[in-house]
Amino acid sequence: MIDGRTQDSPLIRAYRGQRADTLPVWFMRQAGRSLPEYRALRTDVAMLDACLDPALASEITLQPVRRHGVDAGILFSDIVVPVKLGGVGVEIVPGRGPVLEHPIRSASDVAALRPIDPDVFSPIREAVALTVAELGSTPLIGFAGAPFTLAAYLVEGGPSRDHLRARTLMHSDPHTWAALMNWVADASGEFLRAQVEAGASAVQLFDSWAGSLSVEDYVRRVAPHSRRALDHLRGLDVPKVHFGVGAGDLLEAMYGVGADVMGVDWRMPLSEANRRLGGRTPIQGNIDPALLAAPWPVLEAHVRAVVDAGRAAPAHVVNLGHGVPPDTDPDTLTRLVELVHSLPQ
Ligand code: CP3
Repeated sequence: MIDGRTQDSPLIRAYRGQRADTLPVWFMRQAGRSLPEYRALRTDVAMLDACLDPALASEITLQPVRRHGVDAGILFSDIVVPVKLGGVGVEIVPGRGPVLEHPIRSASDVAALRPIDPDVFSPIREAVALTVAELGSTPLIGFAGAPFTLAAYLVEGGPSRDHLRARTLMHSDPHTWAALMNWVADASGEFLRAQVEAGASAVQLFDSWAGSLSVEDYVRRVAPHSRRALDHLRGLDVPKVHFGVGAGDLLEAMYGVGADVMGVDWRMPLSEANRRLGGRTPIQGNIDPALLAAPWPVLEAHVRAVVDAGRAAPAHVVNLGHGVPPDTDPDTLTRLVELVHSLPQ
């Protein structure tokens, strides 16, 4: 965004609610294990070490843009990077996900968290600066985890199915919950701000686990903190995408925290998402990742149906309904980009 060079790109125009000549497309988790060139770079580097090496993170970010011709890069990083830089002991265990040295559950655990110092994000700023210099007029998307998804990892100590401990804490000790959510919101918020100040043209907040919440709990115990994370971007004019998994019932509430664009998972037709959002909000999604492994004619018919359903919205950015599965054939993704770009507007 720094000097406006991405302003006329199909992605930024769509995020601002305008339809361009071609439909923009990118993929959540487009950088990663589906690419042999990624696996080659990661052979002896731990995930979080790769995220904190600016040259390596930048190169990994650029790989899918070069290979597939997608309309955006998304910074190669992880939602736990800001909490790690904020002093929390966390690693990413291959095949499992983020695992905490010590879960954060009690009032004293939360009181021990130090305020976020924006200077800790210098490796991230450097990675973004290197990347946008290479991308030119192709926008880079910055991202962060939303407070609930991150707090679920911190409280549980690792991946969990229903996030029971986190949801128990929310009700049994609302003050500790709010203090933890505020700290995580500030970590994710400053991570977003660092990416935009260094040159990202849009951001996406991932609330991957919000689907385990009732609407009432989301609105009362989560939404104010997600708003706080996005408030760290005040004064920076970038489109903000908000995405959850299994969160169709939360669509309006998630929009309400200050989002400009809503990401939709594969469960809800885009026409229904558009109806719920009142027909005024650009939408992103929602190819079912399962169909990437289906025969091409099956995938092609599905993609055409997704694009048709998206025509009701003011603007549509094509994406998957969740991340690229690691065993996806990368040629399928390249072919999918070509198909989307060939569809008449
Ligand atoms: O290309 C992109 O989309 C950008 C990079 C990105 C990563 N993680 C890289 C990554 C993004 C946007 C994320 C977000 C993320 N991380 C989320 C939210 C989005 C979602 O998928 O719901 C979540 C919940 C995490 C936590 C996390 N990190 C998990 C569950 C895993 C998978 C663990 C495994 O091995 O299966 C990670 C690791 C991770 N983050 C990888 C990548 C490319 C795989 C690491 C590897 O290659 O070894």
